[in-house]
Amino acid sequence: MKETVLITGASSGIGLELARCFAAEKSNVILVARSTDALEKLAAELRTRHQIEALVVTADLSQADAAQKIFAELQGRGTVVDVLVNNAGFGLHGGFTELPLHRQLEIIQVNVAALVELTGLFLPGMIQRQRGGILNVGSVAGFLPGPNMAVYYASKAFVLSFSEALHEELRGTGVRVTDLCPGPTESNFSQVARSHRVRQTRARKMSAAEVARIGHEDFRAGKCLSLPGAQNKILAGAVTRLLPRAVVRKLAGHYNKLK
Ligand SMILES: NC(=O)c1ccc[n+]([C@@H]2O[C@H](COP(=O)([O-])OP(=O)(O)OC[C@H]3O[C@@H](n4cnc5c(N)ncnc54)[C@H](OP(=O)(O)O)[C@@H]3O)[C@@H](O)[C@H]2O)c1
Repeated sequence: MKETVLITGASSGIGLELARCFAAEKSNVILVARSTDALEKLAAELRTRHQIEALVVTADLSQADAAQKIFAELQGRGTVVDVLVNNAGFGLHGGFTELPLHRQLEIIQVNVAALVELTGLFLPGMIQRQRGGILNVGSVAGFLPGPNMAVYYASKAFVLSFSEALHEELRGTGVRVTDLCPGPTESNFSQVARSHRVRQTRARKMSAAEVARIGHEDFRAGKCLSLPGAQNKILAGAVTRLLPRAVVRKLAGHYNKLK
């Protein structure tokens, strides 16, 4: 049966590539972000290439009423969302007191509050229908504290904890929850985060297409956690568990050290 998948942050990077993955399996897609032109371009591409329905919903998830508005618009159209992909997110490099407080609260609004609210609005229907699922895009950053990116790392720790808890709660309901935890990935993320302020690191970046392909596959396989790439598996699975916490936070601080 044909599913309808709502993807936030589908205008670029990992979200755009996830939209391509779901469309390629013939799911209809609802593309959400602020950049209407980029969403319309992607929608046109997916309709032509896969003969699916692609709906564009322009929304700014830093606005407190955005999730409700999206839900109301789709209810008004009679559209059922089978799969919710909470991908929209951003981070900022810099010390906590140096970065504007309102921008850091925006990180919490987009990465955490909107994700929870969209989940709270769409999940009851999925449980009732006994199918569907939620794919949250967290980060390996969720596994450790991040000096010089404190709020971003903390937001992804929330996504990790929340996703894992829901995965267990929903066992046996027919609804699945996966947390995709990418490491450094080619996208607009660094530009938005102003990562040029960080000392040059040699971390290899995965392509957004590869990250999305693995996340999509792991979601379909019903995995709770999706860690694309060996480097990220080692970081999340071994480094953050085996080393003392004091060492882990020092390493993270070194990684995020500003110029
Ligand atoms: N790239 C990495 O290294 C990396 C690593 C780990 C995790 N992640 C996570 O992956 C997810 C996707 O990021 P990306 O790397 O693909 O970066 P990206 O290319 O900058 O994409 C971010 C997406 O989120 C949307 N977005 C941002 N703020 C929004 C807002 N206020 N309202 C609605 N949409 C908003 C953007 O759309 P508009 O600007 O059009 O609104 C864009 O579509 C994020 O959750 C990020 O934290 C990224």
